[in-house]
Amino acid sequence: MSALPVDTTVSMLRMSLRTARYEKDYIGFVPTMGALHAGHAALVRAAKAQTAFVVVSVFVNPTQFGPKEDFAKYPRTLEADTKLCAEAGADLIFAPAVEEMYPLMPPLTTVDVSSLGDHLCGASRPGHFRGVCTVVLKLLNIVQPSFAFFGSKDYQQAAIIRRMVRDLNVNVGIEVVPTVREPDGLALSSRNRYLSASERAVAPGIYAALQATRARAATVRAVPALEAELRAALSAIPGARVDYASVVDADTLQPLAELDRPAVAAVAVFLGTTRLIDNVALP
Ligand code: PAF
Repeated sequence: MSALPVDTTVSMLRMSLRTARYEKDYIGFVPTMGALHAGHAALVRAAKAQTAFVVVSVFVNPTQFGPKEDFAKYPRTLEADTKLCAEAGADLIFAPAVEEMYPLMPPLTTVDVSSLGDHLCGASRPGHFRGVCTVVLKLLNIVQPSFAFFGSKDYQQAAIIRRMVRDLNVNVGIEVVPTVREPDGLALSSRNRYLSASERAVAPGIYAALQATRARAATVRAVPALEAELRAALSAIPGARVDYASVVDADTLQPLAELDRPAVAAVAVFLGTTRLIDNVALP
């Protein structure tokens, strides 16, 4: 194990942060579920560039998984995660057990960011964003950072969290860091490790389809036409099953008829049993 300290209880973390807050001023926070990769390292580096002391949480949050989802098999790789965080410049890991985060399960107090959370990923993963918002708010209350860092691959998650902190006056700046990709375009994700060799070979088709949509958006302004082309391109990937392929308002995430404001093309695609998400901004 690397020299990076790992706190496992809320009281240990609060103790560690008391000194850091006094000596270091700004605290940066990167919430994760572990199984860290270069995308997470980019979040830690962004946090370190902006703040003096960086906390990374590693917690596979049960309340954001549906009953048939991969909570039990989600990869747990704390030793490798600690090493990656140390190399990227983090100062402290917070890795609580489920009982530490949720002494009373299920929590009776939860957070819903209504209209932002009930479509796109929220439609096929009911309750997912309630689980995300509830744990992120708990973590923000525990760490009390000046800034928290999220990846733009999880576009809807970042939009929802931004809105949550605004609505609830949480005193934190939300920073969204660009998606990190493999050389062939596949967005880095902890779930990429579930892909078989043949699924991995076709997975870059997801980003290729999104890039084609971005190029088409220069001339085609009708959103239903763009969405139909995007869905067709994704469906042509061998073995792919499209969960959604949508072009939505970049801020409200609501459906659009015309590209008359900043928009984002967002997709979720199953390759075998692995669900991958990605998105691009449209001009
Ligand atoms: O993006 C993630 O890894 C998770 O949704 C988060 C923000 C750590 C909450 O569990």
